Amino acid sequence: MVGSLSLSLLSRAASAGARTNTVSNQPINLTDNQPPQNPQNLQNAQTWSQRFESALHPAIARFNASIGFDIELLECDLTGSVAHAKMLAKVGVLSEAECEQIVSGLEDIRQQYRDGKFNPGIDEEDVHFAVEHRLIELVGAVGKKLHTARSRNDQVGTDLRLYLRGQIAQIRQRLKAFQQVIVTLAEQHVETLIPGYTHLQRAQPLSLAHHLLAYFEMSQRDWERLGDVLKRVNISPLGCGALAGTTFPIDRYYSAELLGFEEIYHNSLDGVSDRDFAIEFAAAASVIMVHLSRLSEEIILWASEEFRFVTLGDTCSTGSSIMPQKKNPDIPELVRGKTGRTFGHLQGLLVMMKGLPLAYNKDLQEDKEAIFDTVKTVSGCLEAMTILLQEGITFRTERLNQAVTEDFSNATDVADYLVTKDVPFREAYNLVGKVVKTSLAAGKLLKDLTMDEWRSLHPAFEEDIYAAIAPAQVVSARNSAGGTGFEQVRSALNRAQTLLTQAD
Ligand code: ARG
Repeated sequence: MVGSLSLSLLSRAASAGARTNTVSNQPINLTDNQPPQNPQNLQNAQTWSQRFESALHPAIARFNASIGFDIELLECDLTGSVAHAKMLAKVGVLSEAECEQIVSGLEDIRQQYRDGKFNPGIDEEDVHFAVEHRLIELVGAVGKKLHTARSRNDQVGTDLRLYLRGQIAQIRQRLKAFQQVIVTLAEQHVETLIPGYTHLQRAQPLSLAHHLLAYFEMSQRDWERLGDVLKRVNISPLGCGALAGTTFPIDRYYSAELLGFEEIYHNSLDGVSDRDFAIEFAAAASVIMVHLSRLSEEIILWASEEFRFVTLGDTCSTGSSIMPQKKNPDIPELVRGKTGRTFGHLQGLLVMMKGLPLAYNKDLQEDKEAIFDTVKTVSGCLEAMTILLQEGITFRTERLNQAVTEDFSNATDVADYLVTKDVPFREAYNLVGKVVKTSLAAGKLLKDLTMDEWRSLHPAFEEDIYAAIAPAQVVSARNSAGGTGFEQVRSALNRAQTLLTQAD
């Protein structure tokens, strides 16, 4: 079945005229499926061995190619190739002179790329072929020796790991910058109070700093989690070959060391087909996005007329094209929205992997866009949220202060008060239910009950009940480890500042 399908494709391509493959300078026209005007002789045009008699059908070439996105790996591909060439020279497969020519050719390609002078098009199947072909153009026949003792399978695995290693380092830096603005904001708001919620119902008042520092803690775990993922990213598959290793006396530890990998894959089949590290990265990125999305949701609520806890600055919010009074929280909405695509990439990678027999399968080419987009999304969202917290959000402290005095979120403290007067907690809890009911019926808040009313509810109430249920006291009293009491919050801030100085 598969055989007859590929045969029919080949014969269709053949009848369309002999096509050049990736060595050609003739770009494959992607706008239509017409054969090129000047088909070249396969003798100088083939990428594949002479086993092939015709090149790919243009539509199939387009379908098969990854150059449109794996160009992102170009510098990593060059770095990996330099290490491979040096290793080949070390073990005597290349002479020192050959190695030097190859390495300098690869570095020239890097420069050309940076200068915008190397833009491989769709006539190259992927970045690996693009580099190899350019190298041969630049250094001549010696360039044809570079691919000795390796395959694109270990090559692409190496590139992706180098790429992800660099990106993870950058995302971790962005996490630190995000944490830093949280700490700066929290420092300003230790004694600012904000209603705390459970079930989105007013529960107990909090120090605003405590609320913000919850996100610091989440980000700290995100930073640590990425560090953990890095351990599995930083393993070299280079030298695993196509799947089974190689007949050449290569030194995999040497190329791994040159590339800064901590370890090598100990099984060549696993080395070329493992994408666990990519899945782990997508999972860690998804957790970061969960955290950013939760914060986004809170900011969106807080900015609403219903809450009025924050105002958003003009540099970080947008207007409506029709309703001039509106200021929209586009940044947190976008972050919340982009969270979905990150989860999608994780799911895509998991499903892509689950049915693959060992070892490399072309399905694996699908890993790249998922990873690139995840990197771009999580980096962009971290940057935007950092800017938003830094300059785009102002807490309306008067409104917050009013909010914490206008509800029954000090009810637990009435119960706690009675416990200090030797009333068992459950009994106190039931009694406070009655207190709240009585107050509601009288249209009063707890702070407005008279001493006589308190006394009629329980003889243990004394004058000091008023101080005990004042919002600042309610917060301050929660001095248990990790609680919202101001003393705890100050030590949480100290802890955060110490963690911020932590190196990788
Ligand atoms: N573009 C391919 C990828 O991204 C490179 C590896 C191709 N290997 C192969 N045996 N066809 O996975």
